Amino acid sequence: MESIVQQINAYRQEIEALELVTPDQLETYRIKFLGTKGIVKALFGEMRNIPAEQKREFGQVLNDFKQFAEAKYESAKETTDSDQPQAAAIDLSLPGDPIVAGTRHPINLVRRRIIDIFHRLGFAVADGPEIEDDWHNFTALNLPEHHPARDMQDTFYIAQNPDWLLRTHTSNVQVREMEKGKLPIRVICPGRVYRNETISARAHCFFHQVEGLYIDEHVSFADLKQTLYFFVQELFGKDVKVRFRPSYFPFTEPSAEMDISCLICGGSGCRVCKQTGWVEILGCGMVHPKVLESCGIDSNKYTGFAFGMGIERITMLLYGINDLRLFSENDVRFLRQFTAAT
Ligand code: PHE
Repeated sequence: MESIVQQINAYRQEIEALELVTPDQLETYRIKFLGTKGIVKALFGEMRNIPAEQKREFGQVLNDFKQFAEAKYESAKETTDSDQPQAAAIDLSLPGDPIVAGTRHPINLVRRRIIDIFHRLGFAVADGPEIEDDWHNFTALNLPEHHPARDMQDTFYIAQNPDWLLRTHTSNVQVREMEKGKLPIRVICPGRVYRNETISARAHCFFHQVEGLYIDEHVSFADLKQTLYFFVQELFGKDVKVRFRPSYFPFTEPSAEMDISCLICGGSGCRVCKQTGWVEILGCGMVHPKVLESCGIDSNKYTGFAFGMGIERITMLLYGINDLRLFSENDVRFLRQFTAAT
């Protein structure tokens, strides 16, 4: 019996030293020690060869050993069964899951390019509120009280206060810059604007603008033309042609709209340019003296020009997009296509 008890002690040591981490290790252990052909079972078989007077003592040793072996199994099982990934089960040689990087929204890409071009001409970015009062959005800009743009059909008013509205252009920021009274002023105002339009492929109830303002002594229409000409050449390429058509805005005099030669057909006429070869991209003009005076600027001393453009429209031209709604539907199949600025 001596030698068997020694053998059992050796097994004990072996079991103690065992690390059962993976389910495989656990199962191998179970088969070796606790299985029907396992060591514990075999040891019980030895009972036959033990002299009768020692059977009791040997039985005690065996039972202790059996419990010990089972306890090891149970406690190891608890840790391997849990949901925790097992250290040894992770194959570190496998390639990792790719992290899908987001892409910039096309409106953002184009906005950044526009800002960058004007930045090089010395224009700073100015910001202002999207919820605006009547003065900054309309009155200071020489829009008379009964101007159609003030109509509920065109403008979203805030129910709590009839003086508040969602700005219809970022010209409100220009007014705020002029009111600060620090001259000269050379700013562009990118931002979201709101108009009460029926949503379609060509119109939306919100869109994005970049407006610009330059006020100093002796600023002329020639400065306006050259600035905008530089801008479109930087944005669309050196081959682009421009033309100015007389227009009307209450806040500028004289006013103009600027067209560029159609990028799609190169000027020969297509659906995008409605067969004219030209596409309108912005409104502009010399700041009306009344506007300067409203904002506390001496219109005898200072002159200035202003311009405003829709970012959506320019983005559509640059990328050949034909439906304005795509910009706000958040379909990743659309958005993923714009990884770099053109
Ligand atoms: N505010 C005008 C608009 O929203 C754009 C514009 C700005 C026109 C400045 C002329 C001068 O349409």
